Amino acid sequence: MFVPLLASSELKEGERTVVHAEGRDLALARVHGVVYAIDNVCPHRNGELGRGDLQGYHLYCPLHAWSFDLRDGKAFFPQGAKVECFEVKEEDGRIFARRKPQG
Ligand code: FES
Repeated sequence: MFVPLLASSELKEGERTVVHAEGRDLALARVHGVVYAIDNVCPHRNGELGRGDLQGYHLYCPLHAWSFDLRDGKAFFPQGAKVECFEVKEEDGRIFARRKPQG
């Protein structure tokens, strides 16, 4: 089920932020007009990915610079690391996300 996160106007092009939804924190970013959502918690030592630098489709952890692709949650560095990636939609001026079906 999609849950509402924030208003579309609160996340402008090239911005990233952290939102709390369904008992967890998500890192959100808008790249080329599209909003992406991944787990906010870095699997290295729990850095907040949504507080890190956004470069292209990559969010860099603010603690030790592991970087994650917003499109699939996979790390560019180090290879093999991964965070959960969420399905996002924008509707009626709001941003929603839900867990992707497993499989
Ligand atoms: S906590 Fe994210 S890279 Fe170390």
